[in-house]
Amino acid sequence: MTKKRVAVLISGRGSNLAALIEATKTPGYPAEIVLAISNVPGAGGLEVARLAGIATQTVPHKGLPREMFDARIDAALRAANIDIVCEAGFMRIHGEAFARAWQGRILNIHPSLLPAFPGTHVHEQVLAAGVKETGCTVHFLTPELDAGPTILQAKVPVLPGDTVDTLSARVLVEEHRIYPEALRLVAEGKVRLADGRAAFDV
Ligand code: GRF
Repeated sequence: MTKKRVAVLISGRGSNLAALIEATKTPGYPAEIVLAISNVPGAGGLEVARLAGIATQTVPHKGLPREMFDARIDAALRAANIDIVCEAGFMRIHGEAFARAWQGRILNIHPSLLPAFPGTHVHEQVLAAGVKETGCTVHFLTPELDAGPTILQAKVPVLPGDTVDTLSARVLVEEHRIYPEALRLVAEGKVRLADGRAAFDV
């Protein structure tokens, strides 16, 4: 089987990128990561990619209208013949045209059990709400922020005395587990976006 060509979009340290890279080393894994793009110059994740021999690009967003930034990302993805895009700690919101163009071929990870706690400062929101359980979600990216159909979720407990650091570390362990699983499902065609829903064939 030809491996799907994957690009990972990052803004930060890239621990999910590292987990995805590690997973692609598994024999028979149906995808390979061929490109990492950061909107933040010097993001730690760029070094993660370089050390793994993966091509990197920086596409700064500063001063660019959203559509122009999206167009640059889109051009880089097309030039690299990308099949699937994984957003991993990518802190920019795309315009509707970009989201539609890549619909079904672009995934995002979010550190909560969506639809609970979308947006930013997620662990702060979780702790402030006093809920006993949180987790993470890999979903198809759609034009509506953090509202695309779920591919996989994992739960973790919120424990007494938790801080943003302890909670995010617990959630991150699960992120690193489910993102490679979700990418595998999509790359194998076992989950696809159909009529605005995630259709499973597993
Ligand atoms: C993760 O918690 C991800 O869910 C969130 O930002 C964080 C990125 O971490 N959107 P990393 O850059 O993958 O280490």
